[in-house]
Amino acid sequence: MLAPTLFSSYLLLLPLLLTLTNAAPPSSPSKSLPHRTLANISVVDTPIVRAAEAYAKQHSPGSYNHVMRAWLFGCLHLSHNATLAAQVDLEVHAIGLMLHDLASDHPLANAFVTRDRRFEVDSAAAAANFIRSHADAKRNWPGWRVQRVWDGIALHAEPRFALHKEPDVLAIYWGNELEFSWAAPGGGEQKGVTRDEHEAVLRAFPRDEGRGAAASTGLLAFAAWYCRYKPESTYDMWMQPYGELLVPGYSAAGHRLLDRALAVAGVDVSTIGV
Ligand SMILES: *[C@@H]1O[C@H](CO)[C@@H](O)[C@H](O)[C@H]1NC(C)=O
Ligand SMILES: *[C@@H]1O[C@H](CO)[C@@H](O)[C@H](O)[C@H]1NC(C)=O
Repeated sequence: MLAPTLFSSYLLLLPLLLTLTNAAPPSSPSKSLPHRTLANISVVDTPIVRAAEAYAKQHSPGSYNHVMRAWLFGCLHLSHNATLAAQVDLEVHAIGLMLHDLASDHPLANAFVTRDRRFEVDSAAAAANFIRSHADAKRNWPGWRVQRVWDGIALHAEPRFALHKEPDVLAIYWGNELEFSWAAPGGGEQKGVTRDEHEAVLRAFPRDEGRGAAASTGLLAFAAWYCRYKPESTYDMWMQPYGELLVPGYSAAGHRLLDRALAVAGVDVSTIGV
């Protein structure tokens, strides 16, 4: 009888299917991976991580030192929090930090850059494509791992989401954030990273690209560029106020979710009270 046979094969296959589809994240994914020392910091050293570094250098030279510092600050953060370190997938962490700016610092004609998507989304897509085209992809990169990298990059400047996501995503956020906040005037977040550690990172990957020491003006110019040249990607997100402050003629009005809500409601705002 056909039906029972099919049904029993399905039962036999079920555990396998569950394994394949769930492919649950291992509890300590990175324990046995090889490491090397960079700027006196122990970093994960696998073929795809090395390829990610080369990829960042080749495709995003203007932000290479920045992304390397972000990775190293991220590793230092983990080295000061064993609980978090035990939860983080070091390859996801390394690739997420080294490729988080793939689509930034480029002219609009660059292949990674779209007109309408946020640079974080363009970078996330470029990083996911990098992983999928690597020789390790089939064996070691189930969809959920690629997704962690995508999420970490897409949310690297959105603490309101990133800090409530998986440890991988949170740790990618902090690696990049330490680049800006470690030496923030008035004391930013330092996550246990010491002055000596911080200086060793700066010696290895100097701030030569207008970020970092000049981070405040660097960030202003960075966001203003997007508001001017990719305005569609800046409405209703953290860059919008930079455009309003710095870019003559920039206006989000008509493009915000609020404008859509007003149009749908079709009412005179002055009649709405709360
Ligand atoms: C390297 O790191 C170790 C601690 O891990 C520290 O004792 C040593 O002073 C550091 N060396 C340099 C050159 O910063
Ligand atoms: C270390 O990481 C854990 C897990 O994410 C977190 O709950 C804890 O607050 C962190 N500790 C410090 C000192 O930041």
